[in-house]
Amino acid sequence: MDRIIIFDTTLRDGEQAPGASLNQKEKLEIAFSLEKLGVDVIEAGFPVSSPGDFEAVEMVARNIKGSRICALARAIPKDIDIAYQATKKARQSRIHVFLATSKIHMRYKLKKAEDEILRLAVSSIKYARNLCDDIEFSPEDASRTEEAFLYRVVAAVIKAGARTVNIPDTVGYAEPYGYGGLIRALRENVPNINQAVISVHGHNDLGLAVANSLAAVKNGARQVECTINGIGERAGNASMEELVMALKVRQDYFGVTTSIKTKEIYRTSRLVSKLTGFVVAPNKAIVGLNAFRHESGIHQDGVLKKRSTYEIIKAEDVGFKVEGLVLGKHSGRHAFLARLKTLGYKLDEKDIDEAFKRFKILADKKKQVFDEDLVTIVQEEIGSNALEVWKLEAFEINSKSNSVPQAKIILKSSGKIFEADSGGDGPVDACYKAIEKITRLKCQLLDYGIQSVSRGEDALGEVSLKLRSKTKEAMGRASSTDIIEASIKAYLQAVNKIAG
Ligand code: KIV
Ligand code: ZN
Repeated sequence: MDRIIIFDTTLRDGEQAPGASLNQKEKLEIAFSLEKLGVDVIEAGFPVSSPGDFEAVEMVARNIKGSRICALARAIPKDIDIAYQATKKARQSRIHVFLATSKIHMRYKLKKAEDEILRLAVSSIKYARNLCDDIEFSPEDASRTEEAFLYRVVAAVIKAGARTVNIPDTVGYAEPYGYGGLIRALRENVPNINQAVISVHGHNDLGLAVANSLAAVKNGARQVECTINGIGERAGNASMEELVMALKVRQDYFGVTTSIKTKEIYRTSRLVSKLTGFVVAPNKAIVGLNAFRHESGIHQDGVLKKRSTYEIIKAEDVGFKVEGLVLGKHSGRHAFLARLKTLGYKLDEKDIDEAFKRFKILADKKKQVFDEDLVTIVQEEIGSNALEVWKLEAFEINSKSNSVPQAKIILKSSGKIFEADSGGDGPVDACYKAIEKITRLKCQLLDYGIQSVSRGEDALGEVSLKLRSKTKEAMGRASSTDIIEASIKAYLQAVNKIAG
C-alpha cells in the first residue's frame, strides 16, 4: 500500500500564526514530540529570518534522529546557504526552496516576468543540490498559478534536481475538486513528474485545508504538509491529526498508510496547545475535549449497546482516554505511575514527586480524577523547573455586587515573603494589580482565556494568558479547580519567564 509522507510544519508555518512565538527550548520539546509521533519530515524553521530561528533549527537538527529535518529558504543563495548551515548536522536533512509563480505575486510582489522566475527557480535548485541531496521546491501560490506555467516550472525544477515538488494553496483559495484536479493534471502534463514526490500544502482560509489535501492524495499526492492542531498563518494550515485520522479511518477509500503512531496524537496536541497558548476548541475534530463525548440519550444508548453505532474512531486510538474514572484520592503512587505509563509519559524522579503531590491535592478536591486531569498536571510539571522567581504563597479575594473587588496576594521570593493588596476591575484584575505592586514589573495582559479541561462540576479550569513587559512577551498557563488560583499561577508563570 502507498505510504503518505507526513511533513510537519508546526515549527515553521505553525509558528507563523499570530501570537504563537516559541522559544528554542519549546521548539525542541515539540520536535521531540513530533519524532515520537512518527513524523517523516519536520520543517523546523526559516533560518534566515532571525538568529533565534537559525539556532532553533540547528538545535533541532542536532538532537532529532528519527525524522528528517527541513529548513525553509527563498530562492536566493544567501537563504540556501543559511538553511544548509542550520541543517547540516542532522542525520537526514532537507532544504525547502520557495518562489512565487502566480501572476499576482510575480507582478506585484516580485516584479519579475515568467522567464526570470523560471531561471531563478532552476538556478536555486541547482545551487541547493550542490549542498544537500534532498531538495524540495514550492511554487508559492501554486493554486492561483496559470496551469501551463506551473507545468513548465515543475518540470524544470525536477530536471534541476528537486526531489519533492510541493503545490501550495498559499492563500487557502482552492476547493477540493479543483485542487485534486490540479494534482491529476500535473501528473498528466509534466513528463518527468514521476521523478519527484508530489506534495500538498493547504491553508484554511475557507476551512477546506484538510479536504483539499485529501482530494490531492486521492489524485496522487504522496506528501502532505500539515501542523498539529491546524495552527498556522491566518486561519491556519491543514491539521495533521485530522488528515492522519481521515486517511486511517477511511483507508477503504484512500488506500494509503502513514507512519504516524496515532496514540501519540492527543499528547502532542496538548503540548503544542500548552506551549503556543492556543487553546483547542472543544468541538475540534480528533483532539477537542468533546470529540468523543456523547450527550444525547439516544446516542448514549446506542453506544452502550454497540460502540460503532455512533463512534467511527476509538478515543484510545488517538491517545485520548475519556472512558470512565481513572484515579481517586485513595489511589497510591504505584497506580498513579502505572496510569502515566499507559498515557505514554516517562518522568524523572523530581517531576514524578511534584506531579504526584499535585495529583493528591487535586484528588482531595475532586471526586474523580480523569486522564485529561492527569495529562494537564503532568504537562505542567514537565519543564516547570524554570527559575521560580516569584511563587504564590496565599491569596484572599473579596468580591460582592456594587463594590470594587479586593485582592490580597502573598508571594515568596528568595526565601522572603511579600504581601500587597489592591482593588481592580474584577477579582482577577485585582490580583494582577496586587502582584504588580510586589514584583514592580509592569505588564500588559495581551491575551487571557479560560477553559475546562475535564468533566464534572469540579472540573479543572485551565487559564492561559500572554503578558508583555517592555519588549519581552511570555505565555503562562496553569490549572486548578479554583479559577482565581489558576489565573494567579498562570500570571506568575509568565512573570517568572520575563523576570528569569
Ligand atoms: O503557504 C505557502 O505557500 C508556504 C510556502 C513557503 C510553502 O508556506
Ligand atoms: Zn504555508
